[in-house]
Amino acid sequence: MKGPSKIPEGHEFIETGDGSFTLFSTSFQEACHSLAGAREETIAYYIKGCHILHKCQEFSPLNILEVGFGLGLGLLTTMEMIPSDKTCHFVSLEKDKRLLEWFCDEHRELNLKWSGQILSSSVKNFQITLLLGDGRIELPKYLESHPIKFHAIYQDAFSPKKNPTLWTKEWFTLLKDSSHGEVTLSTYSASSSIRKTLHETGWGVQNGEGFGLKRTSTRAVLNSPTNQDIESFLHRSPVKALIDEDLSLENEVLKRI
Ligand SMILES: C[S@@+](CC[C@H](N)C(=O)[O-])C[C@H]1O[C@@H](n2cnc3c(N)ncnc32)[C@H](O)[C@@H]1O
Repeated sequence: MKGPSKIPEGHEFIETGDGSFTLFSTSFQEACHSLAGAREETIAYYIKGCHILHKCQEFSPLNILEVGFGLGLGLLTTMEMIPSDKTCHFVSLEKDKRLLEWFCDEHRELNLKWSGQILSSSVKNFQITLLLGDGRIELPKYLESHPIKFHAIYQDAFSPKKNPTLWTKEWFTLLKDSSHGEVTLSTYSASSSIRKTLHETGWGVQNGEGFGLKRTSTRAVLNSPTNQDIESFLHRSPVKALIDEDLSLENEVLKRI
């Protein structure tokens, strides 16, 4: 497949198993997607994982929050999948300005325009809002003046090891408070520590489909409790829920990008 004409600074280009491409971040030392297939992974974990085709029939607009914009594959795949007679407001968070500038350049047809820290556009049935900066600060700031509730959350930060600040009790509490009662949060991670963190902040944790080498992923909802097997496993497991105060290391990475 044809890659992008330019590569954003601080990133390397990788072709993945389904022919789509992803980027490797030199700051986080991690690729944005599974090498088994970036596009297929996005469909499995987010389009199917969050029941987007069903939810867009139910909510108008369908409010989606993506945690980590990366190279914009979550947005592009969602735009492709949602029928043109259904409306969607897609909000995404990104700390790395180089990625948002690069995306704007690669996708001029979306006519994205800056207003302060926000890159936005209305294209056909889509309203796009991309917030530049640390999501922990920018999301609450945005929601203060735009009090929307999310119906679907693509929790797609880098891994809890490399990017722990977006997997904490504080973070999942903020997401809970920003969500509609019928929300579905979906993520590729099935680690016990993120499941415990979600469970302890009031999310009902369930198994999601696996993809590539992963057997399962995680879904979380607010309208039903944690699956009983998962709950007993978490109860026995010594892992601790993540909290924000011990995360000074990653904050150093975030300061540099
Ligand atoms: C796995 S990638 C996202 C891939 C993306 N969903 C896609 O489909 O292309 C994770 C992204 O989260 C961003 N990120 C990490 N920490 C962040 C933070 N505190 N606030 C906002 N964005 C952050 C990274 O810069 C990276 O681009």
